[in-house]
Amino acid sequence: MGDKEKAAFSGKLVDVEWDGRLCIHIAECGRAKGELFVGGRKPWGQPDLVSLEEVLDVVARCPSGALTYEVKAQDISEQPDKENTVTVTYNGPYFVRGDLEIENSPDDMPGVAMRAALCRCGQSKNKPFCDNSHEDAGFRDYGAVGEKGDGIASSGGTLAIKQLPDGPLLLSGNITIKNGCGRVAWSGTQVALCRCGASNNKPFCDGSHTAAGFKSQ
Ligand code: FES
Repeated sequence: MGDKEKAAFSGKLVDVEWDGRLCIHIAECGRAKGELFVGGRKPWGQPDLVSLEEVLDVVARCPSGALTYEVKAQDISEQPDKENTVTVTYNGPYFVRGDLEIENSPDDMPGVAMRAALCRCGQSKNKPFCDNSHEDAGFRDYGAVGEKGDGIASSGGTLAIKQLPDGPLLLSGNITIKNGCGRVAWSGTQVALCRCGASNNKPFCDGSHTAAGFKSQ
């Protein structure tokens, strides 16, 4: 199974799909207790070995949107988190969860409508998604967040994520940002997040992408 391929695991009640274009091997699936995903086993994913509830639970843990499911003969589909959250990870991407509308995301990547790992180091070859290039690039930022934002009156609703050419990610909607330690640090309805890796006020854009010569394509 190549890194950029897709794989499907068919079960009696539910089919599970894995998209290698999005997976950054965080291993929430592989570390989950139970028999759904077992490293080295063929096939790796076996939905019929666990309950339907367990399949839905484990798949929804996937932070990149690489794993998705389709339930058969029942009107069950994954629902987005009730709150839109951006977690600024330690030396890594933004993990974004919620009701996501990521500009120009391909139709055949259904998982990123609810869960996505977005590049913030500037080095991904699969922008806006993280492809783990931050590791080879030696990207360093521990996910501290210094500002608090204006707050939000409610939570949920659509979170629109635009990619400004050669500039930041522009997020609009109800947004809660968690720092690298998990602290709820910022909330508001509009924010420009650095995706070039050069801002001196990460995770927020401070215009450094211009001097850094950041190219988003
Ligand atoms: S943050 Fe992972 S490739 Fe940029």
